[in-house]
Amino acid sequence: MRPPLAPARRAGAHRKPGLSRRPAALAERVEQAHVLDPVVRRLSDAVVRALPAGPRTDALHGVPFGQPVHPALVRLPLGCWTSAVLLDLFRGTDRASGMLIGVGLAGTVPTAATGLADWSALHTDQQRVGLVHAVCQSCAAALFLGSLAARVGGRRGYGRLLSGFGLAMATAGSYLGGHLALRLGAGASHAEPVGHLSGLGWHDLCGIGELPDRRPVRRQFGYLSLLVYRHGSEVSVLSDRCSHLGGPLHQGRMLVERGGACVVCPWHGSTFAIADGAVVHGPATARQPSFDTRVTADGRVELRARP
Ligand code: FES
Repeated sequence: MRPPLAPARRAGAHRKPGLSRRPAALAERVEQAHVLDPVVRRLSDAVVRALPAGPRTDALHGVPFGQPVHPALVRLPLGCWTSAVLLDLFRGTDRASGMLIGVGLAGTVPTAATGLADWSALHTDQQRVGLVHAVCQSCAAALFLGSLAARVGGRRGYGRLLSGFGLAMATAGSYLGGHLALRLGAGASHAEPVGHLSGLGWHDLCGIGELPDRRPVRRQFGYLSLLVYRHGSEVSVLSDRCSHLGGPLHQGRMLVERGGACVVCPWHGSTFAIADGAVVHGPATARQPSFDTRVTADGRVELRARP
């Protein structure tokens, strides 16, 4: 009979993170760095005060575009700065490098504004990572600004050195940005994939008499949690899990906006049209999955996932 594995050799037990895991392990430690919380709270409150709900904040979140705009804008400074460092390495002119650095610095303004707007409506563990990401990118911008000043002052070598450090800092910040988006799901839609979970065709949900009038309720349909809202004989159904970060929409308040009933997510205030799940206000940018409904002659509510 084989001896049992020694405790330290059992699968994954107390294993030190390998080289490839180290950046991820560091990012995970940032997630749990409670020491950052006072700064996170103060800065988050300041951003929320500076960016009240409305069309300007919706635009910063990317509501008109159907997805967050921060990831698209990030490419401008990072692309320009990477190109400037490559020109430095391959004997490009200082004029060309300087111009790229300047354009990258100009691009940091909308990039930071959209990033701050998104960051202010995240969970605390995500905000900790976002804060360190922002500090890295701010340091990178300061280093590139110093590099530009050094080049203008005729200190070419010093300017190139600062650019190199700036790019290294920006790369570290980008890694944390990737961790925030891809591991912690900031910016991705958190709505359930209703098309895959609900099956084809019409399905029975409940009797119409079981639904209160003008009050959102939660109903389970297979694996799906649904928000169901009845107004007279009209029944609207949305996926209950908010596309922003998964908040329970059935606990939200109802209001009328743009001529139709809307539900406001209790977590960060995203507002969705109850009729079709369209985003009326962010921070959510992805439409809430919705269902076609009909009431049968014997008073049963049936639903079908919209494509
Ligand atoms: S979970 Fe953030 S607005 Fe709904």
